[in-house]
Amino acid sequence: MKTLIIANWKCNPGNLVKAKKLFSAVKKGTEVVKGVEVVVCPPFVYLSKLSGLTLGAQNCFWEDEGAFTGEISPLMLKNIGCKYVIIGHSERRRYFKETCIMVNKKLKAVLANNLKPILCIDNINQVKRALKGISKKEVKKIIIAYEPIFAIGTGKVCSISKAKKMNFSIKKILGETAAILYGGSVNSKNAKDFIEKAEFQGLLIGGASLNSKEFVKIIKKVSQV
Ligand code: PGA
Repeated sequence: MKTLIIANWKCNPGNLVKAKKLFSAVKKGTEVVKGVEVVVCPPFVYLSKLSGLTLGAQNCFWEDEGAFTGEISPLMLKNIGCKYVIIGHSERRRYFKETCIMVNKKLKAVLANNLKPILCIDNINQVKRALKGISKKEVKKIIIAYEPIFAIGTGKVCSISKAKKMNFSIKKILGETAAILYGGSVNSKNAKDFIEKAEFQGLLIGGASLNSKEFVKIIKKVSQV
C-alpha cells in the first residue's frame, strides 16, 4: 500500500492565484516521488480549478440534493472528480457542532457515492459511534485519521508511543489491513517517525501543507521510509 499524504488546507489561501501557485509547486515538487499518494484538500471553491493531483474535500453534507441551503453534497463532489472527503474534523466538531450522529450520516453518504472517507477522530469512542450501522465490507473502505486535539495546529506533537498505541487500538476495530493516518503538528522533522516507528499508513497535514517547500520535504522524507 502506498503511503497516503493528505494536505488539509482548511480555510486557506484567500484567493485562487495563491491556491494555484501552492498547488502547482506541490505538483512539480512531487513528480518524481515514488510510493506516496498525495491528496490535496482545498476549500470547495477551488476544487474545480485545480488538476494534476488527487483531490479531496474537507467536508460534505449527507444528502445528495435538496433544500439544504449552503450545503455541498457527496454527489456534487463525485461529479467534479473529487476522490476523498475528510469527515468529522475536530474543527468541524468544535466550531460547527458536528455530532457523532452527523458524522455517521456523512460517512454513510460518502461511502454510498463511492468516495473515500477520511474519518478524523480523537478517541476510540468516536470511532465506534461513527461506524454505527455500517457493514463490515463498507468499514474496510474507511480511512481513519487519528488526530489528538491537543496536537492540532499547536506545535505539540503526540508522542510516538501514544500514537502507535492508538494506531493499533483502531486497527483492532477496523481490521489489520485498515489505513490509519496520523495528524497533528506534523512537519518535516517528525513525519518519518510516525510512518516508520508508529507504523501509520499516512499523514494528515494542516499548517505544513500551506508551505510548498516544507510539504514537499515531508513527502520526500516519507517516500524514503
Ligand atoms: P496541523 O493540522 O497539521 O496544522 O496540526 C492537522 C489537521 O488539522 O488536520
